[in-house]
Amino acid sequence: MKIAILGSGFIARFYADTLAGQRRKDTLHVVYSRTEANAEKFATDYQVPHFFTDMAQAVNHPEVDVVIIALANHLHLAAIEICAQAHKHVLCTKPLGRTGEEARLMMELVEKAGIMGGYLEDLCYTPKFLKSLESVKNNSIGRVLWAKSREAHPGPHSDWFWDKEKSGGGAIIDLGCHCIEIARNFIGKGIKPVEVMCWAATQVHPIAAEDHAIGLVKYANGAIGQFEVSWCFRGGMDLRDEVMGTEGTIWLNSFLRTGFEMFSTGKGTGYVAEKTESNSGWLFPVGDEVHELGYSHMFTDMFEAIEHHREPSETFYDGYVVNCLIDAAYKSAASGSWEPVDLPVWRGTEAEAHSISYHDYDEHHYLIKEEILPDGNISRILKDKTTGVVSKISIVTSEV
Ligand SMILES: NC(=O)c1ccc[n+]([C@@H]2O[C@H](COP(=O)([O-])OP(=O)(O)OC[C@H]3O[C@@H](n4cnc5c(N)ncnc54)[C@H](O)[C@@H]3O)[C@@H](O)[C@H]2O)c1
Repeated sequence: MKIAILGSGFIARFYADTLAGQRRKDTLHVVYSRTEANAEKFATDYQVPHFFTDMAQAVNHPEVDVVIIALANHLHLAAIEICAQAHKHVLCTKPLGRTGEEARLMMELVEKAGIMGGYLEDLCYTPKFLKSLESVKNNSIGRVLWAKSREAHPGPHSDWFWDKEKSGGGAIIDLGCHCIEIARNFIGKGIKPVEVMCWAATQVHPIAAEDHAIGLVKYANGAIGQFEVSWCFRGGMDLRDEVMGTEGTIWLNSFLRTGFEMFSTGKGTGYVAEKTESNSGWLFPVGDEVHELGYSHMFTDMFEAIEHHREPSETFYDGYVVNCLIDAAYKSAASGSWEPVDLPVWRGTEAEAHSISYHDYDEHHYLIKEEILPDGNISRILKDKTTGVVSKISIVTSEV
């Protein structure tokens, strides 16, 4: 497949490193950037045959099959409009929109044009995430009760992120979009998110948006999603997830502690990993960043989806749901209350209740808890099914 990439900044280079780094049949064919110098530099660095400073010309290049949007947040909608008019499949970086409404327009544009809208949510494609999600789907950890995702770093690298108008917000829109979608995948994309409670503050930087936030997303089946995001964290990029199920637990650490530790006096000049603050002392490099961050699997899914006329795992619809959740988080941060999630388009189940099946101990009792105590004996906490009385029985193991 021949690809046009719009933008030549930070994420465009990550994408290009992924697409050009290994032998792939999908190749960058066209690049658009605002200035000729940047467009030409990118084209030279990645051997892209054509470069433009006009976005429509780049998209409409006759040999282009699919367009990747790697532009600042306020430009996603205009770029998608051009792709829809040109009937070119489009893959857009995160966050899809600055608001749920903007994201809904984008989703409608691609659906009306009959093109594929792939949502480039890389952290839902990391090898660790994919394996974890498979375990959840295989029922290895039972019913998911709580899924927590954290992304925290010392703040983004470009001016427009810090401008609320252009970015749509602060750490919530920038990092919360990842965390919300990670938790939503674990809990189940068909389960309706109903309410959000969020605390957000501007703790360090002189900006209008939040640089730190914590939020809870309540799902219709009783599960809870939690996001923790910050642009104030010192020490690199902290990417961690926790999933708690009725039959098991998953802990993921995707970046700072991946099993690769290195000490340096700092005499060298080498790049360590994204958002690393220092190149001396004990360091946590990442072996293959584009792979560990999910970009390789993400593009494989996207191009295969186009080729086989199926949906990718992350679509514009998913990006739109995430934006609607972020809207509710901002409302909650302002009101200090739980706020309902407004989802004008919802394609999952409307079911609210979840069925809990308790463990039977015997005909008359439920087993609440069983534990082996330090003396080796077993304690069992039971509840009488008729009277509700809770009692404890001790099993002396030497008598068993
Ligand atoms: N993990 C991820 O998936 C990830 C990581 C970083 C950034 N992003 C996303 O990628 C997008 C770009 O972020 P970035 O980090 O590459 O930023 P960046 O500032 O490094 O690059 C932004 C690109 O947009 C262009 N641009 C900015 N303002 C423009 C304007 N007014 N007209 C035309 N072009 C303009 C810049 O020239 C540059 O090519 C954002 O939506 C961001 O949220 C995603």
